Amino acid sequence: MSTDAPAVDSLDLTDPTAFVTHDPHEYWTWFRRSHPVAWHEAAGGRPGFWVVADHADVQAAYDNPRDLSSARGTVLDVLLRGDDSAGGKMLAVTDRPRHRELRSLLLRAFSPRVLRGVAEKVHTRTASLVEQMAAAGSFDFVTSVAEQIPMATICDLLSVPEQDRGKLLEWNKRTLSSSDAEADEMDALSARNEIVLYFMDLAAERRARPGDDVISMLATATLDTAPLPLDDVALNCYSLILGGDESSRMSAISTVRALADHPGQWRDLREGRVACETAAEELLRWATPAMHFARTAAQDLVIRGQHIERGDIVTLWNVSANNDETVFDAPRTLNLSRTPNRHLAFGYGPHFCLGAFLGRAALHALLRAMIEHLEAVELDGPPVRIFSNFLFGYQSLPVRFHRRRR
Ligand code: HEM
Repeated sequence: MSTDAPAVDSLDLTDPTAFVTHDPHEYWTWFRRSHPVAWHEAAGGRPGFWVVADHADVQAAYDNPRDLSSARGTVLDVLLRGDDSAGGKMLAVTDRPRHRELRSLLLRAFSPRVLRGVAEKVHTRTASLVEQMAAAGSFDFVTSVAEQIPMATICDLLSVPEQDRGKLLEWNKRTLSSSDAEADEMDALSARNEIVLYFMDLAAERRARPGDDVISMLATATLDTAPLPLDDVALNCYSLILGGDESSRMSAISTVRALADHPGQWRDLREGRVACETAAEELLRWATPAMHFARTAAQDLVIRGQHIERGDIVTLWNVSANNDETVFDAPRTLNLSRTPNRHLAFGYGPHFCLGAFLGRAALHALLRAMIEHLEAVELDGPPVRIFSNFLFGYQSLPVRFHRRRR
């Protein structure tokens, strides 16, 4: 990477510290203005990689699965360590033509009927938690609310038995959102294995005695005239848990932080001057939960005049694209009534988030519950960021809810 940028010369995008201890938007503005497609030098014995920062380039890269493959992995950390072992099996890390077949199979499980039912449960659960917390006053939003909702939603979708849900959440937290710099990679891998093994057992059970749920549907499905192998079923269940829990959790937490920090915007929302649906899109843009996704060049290609060689890792920075001033006016101003809002928080193109409907439903439910039950929300202590170069969010958010006066 070029070293001509003030305060960016020692930037290492592989090190979560860079995201936690600095304002990353300063870097992204520099990347977009000076080096919209930049080479990030190798560090610590790991390969270098490309950094794509502009909205137009990130969107075009998402929409180019022919040249940019997902099969080796889609998260920088995983790609720097080697290949994702789930490549070609788990939806997110599979290329065409199998990706298309697997995606249409999974989409069957996300029928409007199923989604409506799940969204209603999200609404009820969220409203009741927010009401309880409004009575409690001060609490940590992460543990008391955010951790309770998305995992329960995915577990409803997969019909995971109640008694297993707590351990799944614990394993899942260990796979991605590290709480500190000392977090152990082996621990993350072993947690991932625990989840996959858990779902292998459940898939075998449901194949023998199918019910009306996603696991049963996958366990009894055929793809290319053969039954979907049990480990493929398990990996795709894992993929739903992974996508469904972490990013929804982070978006809920960042939403509460944003509303606490912007009381004027909160009043506009509460008093009905902004629709929840419009506000949710801005909150997804403002605090983009998945900061990047990555691809591997399947052949030589050119992006913005840069020659990318077959095999190169290409990182697509949603967090930068969503703050591109050529697309979003005053991007670091939270504007809940911003329309249009062409953010890339859910990606774009063939791998566009499968759970976007549910992710949005969860955010709408949170906003509605807050409007119904709260007068005001304020921070009640310093928030603690998660230690990650992939996810943006907090591991602790002490807040005080002020109950709505009737
Ligand atoms: C606010 C919440 C969410 C955000 C910000 C988010 C973000 C994303 C993004 C950016 C991608 C594209 C990845 C890529 O192109 O490589 C993606 C894909 C995916 N998401 Fe989400 N997601 C959210 C919620 C969910 C939920 C609730 C589920 C599950 C029910 C889910 C499941 C998936 C799956 C399975 C994929 C892979 C799709 C494919 O490869 O075809 N996500 N998500």
